[in-house]
Amino acid sequence: MSMSIAIVGLGYVGLPLSLQFARSGVKVLGLDIDPPKVEAINAGRSYIKHIEPVMVAEQVKAGRMSASTDFSRVKEVQAVIICVPTPLNKNREPDISYILETGKAIAPHLTKGTLVVLESTTYPGTTDEDLLAVLEQGSGMKAGVDFHLAFSPEREDPGNPASKVASIPKVIGGLTPACLEKTKALYGQALTTLVPVSSCRVAEATKLLENIFRGVNIALVNELKIVYGAMGIDVWEVIDAAKTKPFGFMPFYPGPGLGGHCIPIDPFYLTWKAREYGKNTRFIELAGEINTAMPEYVVHRVGEALNAQRKSINGSRVLIVGLAYKPDVDDDRESPSYDLMDLLKGLGATVGYYDPHVPVIRPTREHGHWAGTKSVPWEKSAIAAFDAVIIATAHKAVDHKQLTDWSHCIIDTRNATKSMAVKPGQIWKA
Ligand SMILES: NC(=O)c1ccc[n+]([C@@H]2O[C@H](COP(=O)([O-])OP(=O)(O)OC[C@H]3O[C@@H](n4cnc5c(N)ncnc54)[C@H](O)[C@@H]3O)[C@@H](O)[C@H]2O)c1
Repeated sequence: MSMSIAIVGLGYVGLPLSLQFARSGVKVLGLDIDPPKVEAINAGRSYIKHIEPVMVAEQVKAGRMSASTDFSRVKEVQAVIICVPTPLNKNREPDISYILETGKAIAPHLTKGTLVVLESTTYPGTTDEDLLAVLEQGSGMKAGVDFHLAFSPEREDPGNPASKVASIPKVIGGLTPACLEKTKALYGQALTTLVPVSSCRVAEATKLLENIFRGVNIALVNELKIVYGAMGIDVWEVIDAAKTKPFGFMPFYPGPGLGGHCIPIDPFYLTWKAREYGKNTRFIELAGEINTAMPEYVVHRVGEALNAQRKSINGSRVLIVGLAYKPDVDDDRESPSYDLMDLLKGLGATVGYYDPHVPVIRPTREHGHWAGTKSVPWEKSAIAAFDAVIIATAHKAVDHKQLTDWSHCIIDTRNATKSMAVKPGQIWKA
C-alpha cells in the first residue's frame, strides 16, 4: 500500500511534485498558507502557467489530490515534504523563517514514525540543526528515533518541456540509515532514479554546488561577452564553436543579469554559513559581482546605441521585451528586466515592456512601484514608437523577425536576432 503524504508549499516546486505523486497513485494532501491556491486546487484549477488545469483537475477528480490550509491534518499522513520559499533578507542573508514556521505548524501534529523531508534549497545544517530543533521542540519527540527526517533537493526546471519530474534523478540524504530507507520508500513510489547520499548535509551541499556551478559559469561568459565584445568578437559565435568539443566543455550563455528564485540567491546561503567556519566563498562573491553588474552594462550599450542616433537615454522611450527571467515562463521573480527598467527610468527614459506571459505586473515586495503596469500591445505602431528596444528574455512566443521589421534600434542580450538579415547599426549585442 502506498504511503499517504502531505506537501507543504504548493508553488513552482510543490505543485508539480504533488501531481507527480498523485499520478503515481499516491494520495496527496497539499498544504499552503495561501487560501486562493488551496481553493484553486480543490476546484481543479492551475495557477501556474506551464501546468495545464486538466492535470490538476484529473487528480482532484480521482480523489488522489486535495488541498487545505489546516496544518493539523498532518496527523493523517505518513510523510510530509516541505517546499516553502528560501529567499534572502534585505541584508542578503538567508531567510529560513518559512521553513521554521512550517516546522512549528506541523510539529504538534506529527505522529510516531512520520517522515519529514525538506526540499527547499538551503545551507548545510538547516535540516539536522534548525528544522530538527523546531520539530523536536514542538512534537516532544526525538528525530531519528520517534520520527524520521531527511533532505532532498528539488531539480525542477520550469518551462522546460523535456524536464520531467519523474525521470530527474533525486538526491536523498537522511538523518539516520532508517530515515534514508524511509525516504527511498517515499520517493520510490513516484520517481525512477534515486541517488542516496550519506547525510542531510551532503544532500544540501549537492544542491548548492549545482546552483553555484551555474552562477559561476554564467558570470564567466558574461565577463567574456564584454571582453570579446570590445575586441569585435561575438561571444555567442565563440560558444557555438566551443560547444562542438565533444568532451570537457559545457555551454553557458550570457544575458542581462541573473534572475529567478535560485541562481541569484542560493549561492549566498553558502557564503553566509561559510562565515561560521571562518571561510570565504571567493568564487561566489566574484560571480555575484559580475552578474549583478550586467544590467548596468546593458544600459551602457543602450546609451551607445541611442548616441549613434544623436539621442540620449534621458528623454528617450525604451521598450524591454521579455519581463520573465527565463524563456516561456511567467515567473518574473528577481528578473533583471526590473533592474533595467529602474536604471533606465532613473536616467530619464520613459520605459515600457512587452511580455506575452506577463500581461500586467503583479504587486510584489521587490518591484511594487511597477505593479499594475501593463504590457504594450504587439502592434507595429506601438513598438515602432520606442527609440530603442532591449531583448531581455527571448520567449518563443515573440516574433523577433517581426521586431527587426518594426524597430530600427535593438539591444539584443540573448542573441535572439542571430542570423537575421538586419540593417547596419540596427542590432547592438549586449
Ligand atoms: N522554482 C524553481 O525552479 C526551484 C527549483 C529548485 C529548487 N527550488 C527551491 O524550492 C523552494 C520553493 O520554491 P518555489 O519556487 O516552489 O517557491 P514558490 O514561492 O513558488 O512557492 C512556495 C509556496 O509556499 C507557500 N508558503 C510560504 N510560506 C509557507 C508556510 N509557512 N507554510 C506553508 N506554505 C507556505 C507559498 O504560499 C507558496 O505557495 C525554494 O527553496 C526554492 O529555492 C525552486
